Amino acid sequence: MSQVSVPSSDRIRRDFLDFFRAKQHTIVPSSSLLPKAPNLLFTNAGMNQFVPIFLGQAPCPYEPSRAADTQKCIRAGGKHNDLEAVGWDTYHHTFFEMLGNWSFGDYFKREAIAWAWELIVNVWECPPERLYATVYAPDKAKGDPARFDREAYDCWAAVMAEAGLPPERHIVRGGKKDNFWMMGETGPCGPCSELHIDLTSQGNTRGSLVNKDSAACIEIWNLVFIQFNANGAGGFDNLPSKHVDTGMGFERIVGILQNTQRFHDFGAVVSNYESDVFRPLFEELEQLTGKRYRSTLPSQAHAANLSAQERIDVAFRVIGDHVRAISFAIADGILPGNTDRNYVLRRILRRAVRYGRTLSLLREPFLHRLVDAVADHCPADFFPELHARREQVRKVIYAEEESFRRTLDRGMELFQNKAQRQREQPSPAEQSARPSAQKNFLLSGEDAFQLYDTYGFPLDLTELLAREQGGAVDAERFEELMKAQRERSRVARKKETVEVSSVKVETAGQFCGFETLECQSRVLERARMKDKTAVLLDVSPFYPEMGGQAGDQGSLQHGGEIWKVTDTQKIGSAIVHVLAKSTETLAPGDRVFASVDKQRRRAIERHHTATHLFHWALHEVVSRDAGQRGSFVGAEKLTFDFNAPPLTAEQIADMERLINERILANEPVHCFEVERRQVEGRSDVMQFFAEKYDRQVRVVQIGGQAGQLNGFSMELCGGTHTQASGEIGLFKIIGEAAVASGVRRIEAIAGEASLRKTAGDAQLIQRLAARLNAPPTELERKLEQTLQQQKQLEKQIKTLQNQAAADQSRSILASARKIPSAEGRPAIPLIVANLGAADGKTVQIVAEKLKAKFSGVIVLGGGAGQSAILIATVSPKYCPEVRADEIIRSIAPEIDGKGGGRPEFARGGGKNPEGLDQALAKVESAVIRQQQRQTSPPAATRCPVQANRRLFESAQPKTQ
Ligand code: SER
Repeated sequence: MSQVSVPSSDRIRRDFLDFFRAKQHTIVPSSSLLPKAPNLLFTNAGMNQFVPIFLGQAPCPYEPSRAADTQKCIRAGGKHNDLEAVGWDTYHHTFFEMLGNWSFGDYFKREAIAWAWELIVNVWECPPERLYATVYAPDKAKGDPARFDREAYDCWAAVMAEAGLPPERHIVRGGKKDNFWMMGETGPCGPCSELHIDLTSQGNTRGSLVNKDSAACIEIWNLVFIQFNANGAGGFDNLPSKHVDTGMGFERIVGILQNTQRFHDFGAVVSNYESDVFRPLFEELEQLTGKRYRSTLPSQAHAANLSAQERIDVAFRVIGDHVRAISFAIADGILPGNTDRNYVLRRILRRAVRYGRTLSLLREPFLHRLVDAVADHCPADFFPELHARREQVRKVIYAEEESFRRTLDRGMELFQNKAQRQREQPSPAEQSARPSAQKNFLLSGEDAFQLYDTYGFPLDLTELLAREQGGAVDAERFEELMKAQRERSRVARKKETVEVSSVKVETAGQFCGFETLECQSRVLERARMKDKTAVLLDVSPFYPEMGGQAGDQGSLQHGGEIWKVTDTQKIGSAIVHVLAKSTETLAPGDRVFASVDKQRRRAIERHHTATHLFHWALHEVVSRDAGQRGSFVGAEKLTFDFNAPPLTAEQIADMERLINERILANEPVHCFEVERRQVEGRSDVMQFFAEKYDRQVRVVQIGGQAGQLNGFSMELCGGTHTQASGEIGLFKIIGEAAVASGVRRIEAIAGEASLRKTAGDAQLIQRLAARLNAPPTELERKLEQTLQQQKQLEKQIKTLQNQAAADQSRSILASARKIPSAEGRPAIPLIVANLGAADGKTVQIVAEKLKAKFSGVIVLGGGAGQSAILIATVSPKYCPEVRADEIIRSIAPEIDGKGGGRPEFARGGGKNPEGLDQALAKVESAVIRQQQRQTSPPAATRCPVQANRRLFESAQPKTQ
């Protein structure tokens, strides 16, 4: 066979787009994996970004109204979910690219079908006899909507007849399940026609494998003819125009073109994984693990019966697939977390980590090491975000894997124990629920829940582990326990708010503090709160602590007396005013003049509106997925918690700049009520506390027109705010830190607080400038100069210290003596010296100088004030006789200290320099003691025979 050039994946992507560019399609970028539609977990199809155009809600911006692209998709969780199939076959993925072409009310079935045929058959040269088209034929018995798609049938028949194919054999009919495409329960949809390819070596299956879940005959292109809008209640409304939405699995077409030598040789197994999309990833994995990918596919249906190589190859495919999903998702701002799409991402990542164990990747996190292999092989002109955020992606993956690894081993151990126990003792549940099941154990819902709750094992991971060992999990019971846990935490949250105090509240007052900060009120109730008095009013301008906003302070006046209100809280539905001191004077029915501390309230409002601006900027700069986890709005500062990796200095600066720009633009701040259904499902209206709201909700909108829901920042919020952003003044982020795993907190100030801070900073700079005798603009240069000088001085000091130490060591050397030798042992040369007020460093330098010239024992001391130091060194030659650490241990008590070290070097420290002489005086006797110990062996070894005999005797059984 003549050599055929195999196109690279990059070439194939470009071929597709060039083909449609030539047919007047505008090439558009892939949209983010983070979908705009609130009911989608991830972007799961190329058409997601065009939904508003299909529905007639947005105009088509392309002329002619056609587009083509490659779209990043994730199908895990939700309606389209391929997670469980990944790794087990050649063509399922969680993440994939979808090549697509679109017509928005422009061309329809005839062109879509003819062009699909042209690209596959004429451009890529696929033998037409291997192609099968499916068309929609509703199964009315099953209630399938609409009619047989005669038009599509005829279009396929025309192109096939031209290629000499009998249409009846090459067109297969399918019902709603296979030939009616829906994005979700609602949204644009319509009948579809799929193009399938026969990949068997002979290519003669005559359509028998179409839609039979066979890897030997797979769908390569789906042509959807969008005509309806599914209304969620089972009905389909006609759309104003008809559209085309096609999707071709990129990894599939690459796998096919590359494995068949561009349709010339169908002898090899065709697999998406045998392509230049996955090869670089597998090479990296082979390097990391020392294992080889050998392309085997599980020959058994049961996960428990895989061969060692099959297990390895499944792991390669899963990790290769998952790391792409994780990397692309994080690059688009989706982070692993505990709920919704964030939890799906965490599940994918944890599955990959678990499969790493199959490849013996045990010692350290490994997934982050594959990010480069993913990014390097994705062209930056199509996927710029992965290139720009590579470092961040790596960090997030590393941190996530590291935290899971901490519990993974213990969780696995627990799983094994539980599984083993269940295997030995099949539970009654198993016997009754699955009498005929093949499973050899059923893990209880309680165990699966413990693995989830304590060890972070997502249910699907536990199920996978069980499947691998031929078992199953009681998922139903698990779900019950999950539900109970959610309920418990909901009740706990509620209790926390209600149990703020023990005040009994019967009557609720009215809040008028949005409109006014002072008013005439009547006392409804007076209650005791520990040593304070709490008062309820019929109407109150005081904002009670709620939704993170601090409670108001102020005063109540009655009969010439004034009571300070130090805090305001909401208990049940009542506003409770806590007075600074206890009083018996105020009584129910009394009229009071209630007045809020205006300055403080205004400061709080600035911080509250600034919080909304920060939330907006966070989504702009970091990710729309960085969700709020809590906030505090006070008079002195605001804090805001959110899930995201640590912010970079650049991100902080960007957010400050954006926020201050909006403040300078003096945007209006509108607070108004709307019906809940008006904001439901709107992802541009932040709904952090949504569950607490009633039918009417209050929106705080910055920018746009009042009531129009068209601001750049919109949040459901019950708090008080400035009237325009300009009132906020200078906004400054003053801190950023972690508060929990994956949760960061920023601290920021605005208004007077930031003026004070800025003034304080300026004064500090002035003071420093005065002390350094340089104008502020010169400070940096001056600092640099000073640091240089300091470095030089330190160098000089070191030289001087060295010289002094050398001088000192010379004179000390002269004082060396020898300790008279004990019987049969060599005499030991000894230097002992008190260096007076020398510090630890100096003593050490002198010791080192001496050591270089002297062989024996050196013990030096030094110190002043409250600190004394002792250093002992012993030349190796004498180590068998004397140990430096023992010397230090025996003399350190004299300086009220202790110490230790090695036989050849030890140091001690204490609080009493006055004891130095005494300590040093003991050195000689300490050395002699050690030496004597060496010459006279210890009692236990002196008579080994006797000692052993005693031991032996005591171990004898007593026979009499
Ligand atoms: N929407 C169809 C699909 O995702 C074709 O693009 O398969």
